[in-house]
Amino acid sequence: MSIDIRFEAARYYDYNPAPLDDIPFYLEKIPSLDASLLELGCGTGRVTIPLSRSCKRILGIDLSEAMIAICREKLAQEDIPPAKAGVQVGDITEFDLKQQFDLIIAPYRVFQNLETDREIASLFDCIRSHLAPQGTCILNVFHPNRDRETLINEWCTEEEHLAWEVEIPGGRVACYDTRPLMDQDRLILYPELIYRRYEQNVLVDEAILKILMRCYYPAEFEALISRHGFSIRNRWGGYSGEIYGQGPELVIEFGLRT
Ligand SMILES: C[S@@+](CC[C@H](N)C(=O)[O-])C[C@H]1O[C@@H](n2cnc3c(N)ncnc32)[C@H](O)[C@@H]1O
Repeated sequence: MSIDIRFEAARYYDYNPAPLDDIPFYLEKIPSLDASLLELGCGTGRVTIPLSRSCKRILGIDLSEAMIAICREKLAQEDIPPAKAGVQVGDITEFDLKQQFDLIIAPYRVFQNLETDREIASLFDCIRSHLAPQGTCILNVFHPNRDRETLINEWCTEEEHLAWEVEIPGGRVACYDTRPLMDQDRLILYPELIYRRYEQNVLVDEAILKILMRCYYPAEFEALISRHGFSIRNRWGGYSGEIYGQGPELVIEFGLRT
């Protein structure tokens, strides 16, 4: 297994005060209480835990042992048994669970963490072999808020930006980002997230997470899914009913071609 890039930063993931408001959307997409769900890149269980109460079983996979460890703790605290929700360390581009699922999801832009075309093709192969005949998969990426050329010209910056900050007992946690690098041809952003914890305004802890986000424009994202042999069933531009291509997110539901 590769190095866990989230080893230090995982403990700050759940402090984010404004993650996407996507849980009601995914709850609605569960076809029945008897459905089996697979969550790709489940992280600390932000979505896994609420969905587990509305399906037969949900299985989450994540590359990060640290994120999975937090998710397991939260499942235990909430008394959710492994028969309802299971999580395991694994790579979403390379897994064989010998099982098929009614709904496969990858909330909060997990798909954008895949860097190469090869990883993307392998993910689609895994989805294909784990999707029940009538099942669907939902993938999400953010909709870039500027055109390609502007993104290339403006994204990189030397400055640190404050992404969010929350008060905690005795202090605060803040997340900053820096934007040192970008692959202009493949449109891959390489931001660094810096989490800082302060007690009475004194910095007591810092964790750095270097991630990558491959960017997609609306037509491109849709074409990519179709090109990998799937049939598009639905598209949304966000989680509040926005039209595809007109909102902050790109969300596509697709299934096997019949
Ligand atoms: C932004 S977090 C989203 C977590 C969760 N889905 C949520 O909505 O809160 C992205 C997650 O994807 C996981 N991830 C990225 N690449 C992965 C891969 N190749 N295989 C498995 N998990 C991966 C990361 O470890 C991280 O936990």
